[in-house]
Amino acid sequence: MARTALPVADSDILSTHDRLTFQAGKINYQIATAGGKSVYTVTDGAKSMSAPLTWLFGDGHIGQSYLFERDGNFYESRASYFGTVQGLDFTPGRKLTDPQSLEQAMARPVVGDEVVRCFACHATGSTIGDKLDRSRVIPGISCEACHGPGLKHSLAQRMASAEGQVLENDQKTDLIFDPAKLSPADAVDFCGSCHGTWWDVKLAPPVGIANVRSQPYRLEKSRCWGKNGDARLTCVACHDPHQQLVRDTASYDKNCLSCHLAASSTKPSPDHPGPACKVSAKDCASCHMPKYELGDFHYKFADHNIRVVKPDAPYPE
Ligand code: HEC
Ligand code: HEC
Ligand code: HEC
Ligand code: HEC
Ligand code: HEC
Ligand code: HEC
Repeated sequence: MARTALPVADSDILSTHDRLTFQAGKINYQIATAGGKSVYTVTDGAKSMSAPLTWLFGDGHIGQSYLFERDGNFYESRASYFGTVQGLDFTPGRKLTDPQSLEQAMARPVVGDEVVRCFACHATGSTIGDKLDRSRVIPGISCEACHGPGLKHSLAQRMASAEGQVLENDQKTDLIFDPAKLSPADAVDFCGSCHGTWWDVKLAPPVGIANVRSQPYRLEKSRCWGKNGDARLTCVACHDPHQQLVRDTASYDKNCLSCHLAASSTKPSPDHPGPACKVSAKDCASCHMPKYELGDFHYKFADHNIRVVKPDAPYPE
């Protein structure tokens, strides 16, 4: 998450792919990079338009989108980079089959407070009130996005040591926000502030299979979650937000087996409330957290609605 919003000059992807193109109908899209500058050009053969890109979103292993600025306004390029195809395609959800103008084919204006929201989820400390403060953006998600301003913390510590005091452990942690102290439901909502809470999906649903990207919503729908959740099934039980995502599904077995019995000969207990599987004793997530391809993203997302998957059953919204 640390590299999820950066100035375009820092894009590893653009610096190693100095000319990316894709063609849609008669429109050609190109991003050309040289000397740390990336220029986005769209042409229909007769006319062409260009703009230097300024901000990137997404580290690119799934996708990377680009913004540019013109006359003080932000625009989102219609072309994004996708890690699995190592090339450009339409930005998810922004495909146009019949653009009315080259301007429209090139980009989507990001108006009102939408750009503030992009930065609020992808960067740190970028807003003052509800306005974007370009000079204060800390690119990507740094410690403070989750732990709150550490300033108070380091200040208190410095003042204490200047006076020759040592802060008690409790005094230290009370000054910064400690997400480890949240209840299971609040812990999931905490990650859901960016990843999509149950309510976010209920109130403004990404329709159908697209809600597979709202992991908190999906997880809370699963029978494993129960009514109030359980610390063994929060996001941080399976993912360390300070580390890269672990890709090997079998390495999550220990999480499942912290609640599920390993053998059907034993009976569920308060300690292990989950029944055993009759089918397999390993690689649980590979069958019970199936992956769904979102064509727009060229990527298969793991469904966090843990369940028995019947062959040919439709996606349970
Ligand atoms: C401030 C917003 C924000 C918060 C809060 C947040 N995330 Fe994220 N997270 C993101 C963004 C944005 C990405 C996309 C990174 C990318 O693809 O560039 C991401 C990606 C991830 C990934 C995938 C990384 C990968 O390599 O594919 C995991 C896992 C993850 N977050 C877990 C968590 C957990 C667990 C929490 C709660 C402790 C959390 N996140 C809280 C914004 C946030
Ligand atoms: C509510 C918080 C939120 C907002 C607002 C938001 N994003 Fe994201 N974005 C995320 C999270 C979380 C992820 C990673 C989730 C995942 O893919 O599982 C992500 C992922 C991405 C990715 C990488 C692809 C991927 O799925 O990992 C791109 C590109 C991206 N966002 C661009 C944008 C742009 C551009 C905007 C504004 C127009 C924006 N986002 C607004 C939270 C947000
Ligand atoms: C995406 C959100 C997120 C980001 C970004 C983040 N943390 Fe955390 N951090 C957490 C959560 C959640 C916990 C509690 C983990 C738990 O419950 O086991 C935590 C726990 C900690 C702890 C307590 C020790 C531990 O490992 O349990 C320390 C220290 C810490 N974080 C430091 C940092 C630092 C330094 C950074 C920046 C490099 C950072 N964190 C970035 C979410 C985050
Ligand atoms: C029981 C374990 C478990 C829990 C709990 C869990 N995840 Fe995951 N998560 C996984 C697995 C397994 C994958 C897929 C890893 C792979 O194969 O690449 C994954 C993948 C992801 C990804 C990467 C996108 C993708 O589908 O590849 C994100 C983002 C993510 N999880 C966020 C979350 C958030 C936010 C929460 C809390 C609501 C959460 N996860 C809770 C097991 C878990
Ligand atoms: C917090 C404890 C907990 C964790 C962690 C957990 N489960 Fe569960 N799970 C349960 C309980 C309890 C039930 C039974 C719920 C019921 O009968 O209503 C259950 C039910 C299930 C079911 C049956 C659901 C259905 O639709 O019939 C499957 C499959 C399952 N779990 C798989 C898994 C897998 C795979 C993992 C790890 C990725 C996992 N569980 C993690 C507690 C947990
Ligand atoms: C090869 C795919 C596969 C793997 C791997 C797998 N399961 Fe299953 N599991 C199934 C199927 C299929 C069913 C439904 C069986 C039935 O209804 O007869 C099932 C049923 C279950 C149930 C419901 C049991 C009940 O009595 O209601 C639970 C819980 C479960 N699995 C947990 C797990 C756990 C935990 C793991 C890892 C230790 C795991 N599964 C590994 C395919 C798998």
